[in-house]
Amino acid sequence: MPTNSDLKTHFDSLYQLGDPEMDTTHKAFIELCTKTEAASGAEFQSLFSELFEHTKTHFADEEARMQASNFSAYGEHRADHQRILGDMERFNQRVQAGRLPMAKAWLGDSLPAWFDLHAKTMDSALAAHIKQSE
Ligand SMILES: [Fe+2]
Ligand SMILES: [Fe+2]
Repeated sequence: MPTNSDLKTHFDSLYQLGDPEMDTTHKAFIELCTKTEAASGAEFQSLFSELFEHTKTHFADEEARMQASNFSAYGEHRADHQRILGDMERFNQRVQAGRLPMAKAWLGDSLPAWFDLHAKTMDSALAAHIKQSE
């Protein structure tokens, strides 16, 4: 399973989708995940909450572009966003209440695995669709 630092190292070859907006957001997302994972205590808490806000915007922007371009897989793609955002919200609540270890494990493990698959499948399909409809 890929780690956040694998995502960072292989960004250009594996995760660049050719859509400047998505690529910039994804690069920032991975940077933030890497930075948050390396932090501890109060810094981890504040970075985790920053990551949650960043992810809300990341997903909302993609969803707006799906709707604007009549993307047929909108429902499926949005459901995958909502699932991971729901998990992130629950972990953020724990983190802000001072319970860090499980969130840290999730951030180092499940989140990069999710991004790896989501970027290669759903985001990649969206980038191709947007390119075609331009
Ligand atoms: Fe994305
Ligand atoms: Fe997405």
